[in-house]
Amino acid sequence: MNLKIYIETYGCQMNVNDSEVAASILTKVGCTIIEDISSADVILVNTCSVRDNAEKRVLGRLDLFRLEKKKRSGVIVGVLGCMAQRLKEQLLKNNTVDFTIGPDSYRSLPAVIAYVREKGDKITETNLSANETYAEIEPIRTDSNGVSAFISIMRGCNNICSYCIVPFTRGRERSRDPKTIVAEAEQLVSKGYKEVTLLGQNVDSYNWTDPDNPTRTVNFSQLLELVALACPNMRIRFQTSHPKDMRKGVLYTMAMYPNICPHIHLPVQSGSSKMLQKMNRKYTREDYLEKIKTIKEIIPDCAITTDIIAGFCSETEEDHLQTLSLMKDVRFDGAFMFQYSQRPNTFAAKNYPDDVTEEIKTKRLNQIIELQNALSLASNQKCIGQTYQVLVEGPSKRSDKQMTGRTPQNKFCVFDAKGSKPGDLVYVKILTCSSATLMGEIVEHHKTLIEKAEDSIEDIRKKIRKKITNTIAPQKNKKK
Ligand code: SAH
Ligand code: SF4
Ligand code: F3S
Repeated sequence: MNLKIYIETYGCQMNVNDSEVAASILTKVGCTIIEDISSADVILVNTCSVRDNAEKRVLGRLDLFRLEKKKRSGVIVGVLGCMAQRLKEQLLKNNTVDFTIGPDSYRSLPAVIAYVREKGDKITETNLSANETYAEIEPIRTDSNGVSAFISIMRGCNNICSYCIVPFTRGRERSRDPKTIVAEAEQLVSKGYKEVTLLGQNVDSYNWTDPDNPTRTVNFSQLLELVALACPNMRIRFQTSHPKDMRKGVLYTMAMYPNICPHIHLPVQSGSSKMLQKMNRKYTREDYLEKIKTIKEIIPDCAITTDIIAGFCSETEEDHLQTLSLMKDVRFDGAFMFQYSQRPNTFAAKNYPDDVTEEIKTKRLNQIIELQNALSLASNQKCIGQTYQVLVEGPSKRSDKQMTGRTPQNKFCVFDAKGSKPGDLVYVKILTCSSATLMGEIVEHHKTLIEKAEDSIEDIRKKIRKKITNTIAPQKNKKK
């Protein structure tokens, strides 16, 4: 199948990784991934349904793809991802769309494309699976900086947060075989990657059971440890944690391994227990604050970021003020902030009126953003005068004499290049900042993480082998 494939991706990091999986499946059968839409045989758009504006953006893109189809005959347009899963055949009514294919069906991409080309017919493949994890497929890092990459460790979501479409578009939760996760991380190391983010909608509920021996299981803190040990030269991140499921074990593992980055993205959504209950988040304001206290006790330098929804169903001014006050209590280092967007068929859409006016939603969101900007600035100001380990990602947009990278806490940092290259580890003393960026100068320069580690490489390797053998290697002839 010698076709030129153009892929455009919207939505979360999981979608970015899914596009890499789709690219891998298509290159295996002879296709080429290209960056220029004007010579594509197949245009794929991997979509997001989480909010109405995410869907609108994609519908706008379809208009542009229609022009491509007019320019060249035979061009095929396929919609992948969450919108494909949500809307299925409905999307095929759009003249531009030739096929829709859901997140669990990417193995069918070659067959679906062949079908559309041969039959000239439209098709939709959107069965959700109980066990698909694309475990053995090595994603093609099409859009990567060559320094950091994503690994999906699980798929789907079993939480029914009442506002959220994800469980409908992504299906039941399933955990990927840890052996394949460790192997993929090691592959990344061999290709020169220096940072990996383990992805799941709720990483704390990662739980793999060995199909050959159901008494053997691996939970998230064990997985984290395995990856940390297998790749001592790689910085390890993960996302997303759920306040109801995050356990101390994960925090201890983070504290123990210098290559696991001290940053937790812990979406709170609201500061009002009444709203949280309505959202079906299964924790209260107090539970959340307690978790934050525990994190700070175990990992004092841990950055904490969050997601917040403004104007959920029947949210009062008092509820909103509680969100602002929680933000001030926690002093988040960063946040993604959204206006509530009703999603069809969710519990909230069926049971609660979307009764906060657009005007009030916007006003509250703006207050939340304004407060967060002040908190982010204060958090960055605390870094001034300190020195941080920064993984160099690439040149800054403004000047190629400057490089950018992130601290372990995931703070974005700009500094004079001084001969550093993407993938290097530099130690940067912070001199000034804005609410979004730290600015500083390099005071030390290392090629790898391990140079700084106290253990010798050999000691670390020994530890790794022992740990991996004990936890995930097949146990042959084991006597009871
Ligand atoms: N699994 C992750 C993230 C899921 S989607 C988690 O549980 O946190 C990312 C964020 O989008 C959510 O945290 C939430 O803040 C936001 N979001 C989800 N559904 C939304 C909706 N209907 N309207 C507005 N924001 C929403
Ligand atoms: Fe959506 Fe909740 Fe699942 Fe996150 S945990 S994906 S917000 S249902
Ligand atoms: Fe991700 Fe959007 Fe789907 S956030 S899981 S692409 S709905």
